[in-house]
Parts: sequence; structure tokens; C-alpha cells
Amino acid sequence: MDNATRLQYLQAMGIDVWVPRLSAEPAEALPLGTPKPDTDLIPAIEKPVTVKRDIEHLVETIRSHEDNWERLQRDVAGCQKCDLCETRTQTVFGSGSKNPDWLLIGEAPGQSEDQQGLPFVGNAGQLLTEMLRACGLSRDEVFITNILKCRPPDNRDPKPDEIANCHDYLDRQLALLQPKIIVAVGRIAAQALLNTHVPIGKLRGKVHQFGSAPLVVIYHPAYLLRSLSEKRNAWLDLQLAIQTYNNNKG
Ligand code: URA
Repeated sequence: MDNATRLQYLQAMGIDVWVPRLSAEPAEALPLGTPKPDTDLIPAIEKPVTVKRDIEHLVETIRSHEDNWERLQRDVAGCQKCDLCETRTQTVFGSGSKNPDWLLIGEAPGQSEDQQGLPFVGNAGQLLTEMLRACGLSRDEVFITNILKCRPPDNRDPKPDEIANCHDYLDRQLALLQPKIIVAVGRIAAQALLNTHVPIGKLRGKVHQFGSAPLVVIYHPAYLLRSLSEKRNAWLDLQLAIQTYNNNKG
């Protein structure tokens, strides 16, 4: 949000924003398109500007008033930031509770997800649903989404620029959902979220931090379907997630 828009929101909320008499940007407090006023008309400030409330907190408050689920869903549905918009059937925003303690983040929609517009609905999704059930959770009480909101053709790995383009949507989902625990489902999601190339074998089994929420990495269910020998580790990962959640739910 640029300063002019921010100031308009502050004013609309009834919060006085004092602009120093000789401020470099005096006209920013006025609606966009208003001609710059003569700076002499701006009330002089005798004392140094006193900011009664923490400006960062205000900006956050404004953001959350400004952003909402419907707007975010609209933005994702109409996204044309990368070429995936040309090959997708539809975007896959995510599904589940809008007030979840648990947020699961996978890699990207596959074919079934692209067709149905829902995350994790293919074979891997069925296993993920079972894994959740083993933790005593249903899909309705968690939120499930992906790093990418569009299917990469032929299920190829997401490209770095696609991940970067989509990151803002995930950040906005996180800001609105405020989960108590994040589960990164699979290597691609874990590496993208933690901004690392460390192999998943070294990322799992630990509690990471993502913003204000703990993050636990689990193997992707598609991988588990092929590597049953990892079943025991998969169960250990789920137990770590449950334990981490219990320690953090407050
Ligand atoms: N794999 C993922 O990572 N996400 C989905 O939604 C489906 C399969």
C-alpha cells in the first residue's frame, strides 16, 4: 500500500494524521488526484509530531480490515501473474476451516485438484486425509492449501519465479488464518517455506519457526505411497506435529 492510500485509510478510520508543515510529501493525505495544496494552508505543527499509537500496528490493523477472504479468493481466481494461468483449468485456493489451528501447505495442485478446484483430492490427498484422521483431525477443522495455486503442466516441479509470484497469496492466507501450527507437506513446500535447499531428511524431525507459528515438515503422501519403508518416520513426524501443537496451542 502506498503512503497516500495508507493515509486515506487512516483518515477514514478517524485517525488524525498530522503532516509536518514542510513535509516533503504534504499532499499525500489528500484523495488521489487532488492538486497539491499550497503548503501554507497545512496546519502548522508547533511541537514535534507525537505519534500516539504505534504506526506499524495501525498499518497492520488497516491491512486486516482491508484484506478479507473474499477479496483474496477473487485475487487468486483472477491471477495472471505467471504462465500457469494459461494452462490451468482453475485455481486451487485451499479448503477447510477459516479459523483453523492447523494449516497444511503442500506443493501445487495436481490433475484432480486442477479439475475439482480443491487441494489434495487425488490418491495422495486420500492418504493425507487418513494421516489427519490418525492425528484426530478432520479436513473440515484444518485448512489445506499449496505453495502454488495453479497446476504446473504435467505435474512438473514449481519454478522459483512461480513460487515467488504466488508467495503473496500464501502470506495473505497466513495473515487471515493465523494458525497455531503449520505443517509443510513434502520437500518442495518445506524448502520453499524455509527458503533452503536442505534435503527433506534433514528438515523433518525438527520444529522450525515460520512467522509466529511453529512449522513441522512431513513427507509428501505421494512419496509415502511409493516408499512404504518411510511409514514409521511419517508416523514420528505426525507425532512431532501433535506434540508441537499441544505445546503451542496456549
Ligand atoms: N500434491 C500437492 O502437493 N498438493 C495437492 O493439492 C495435491 C497433490
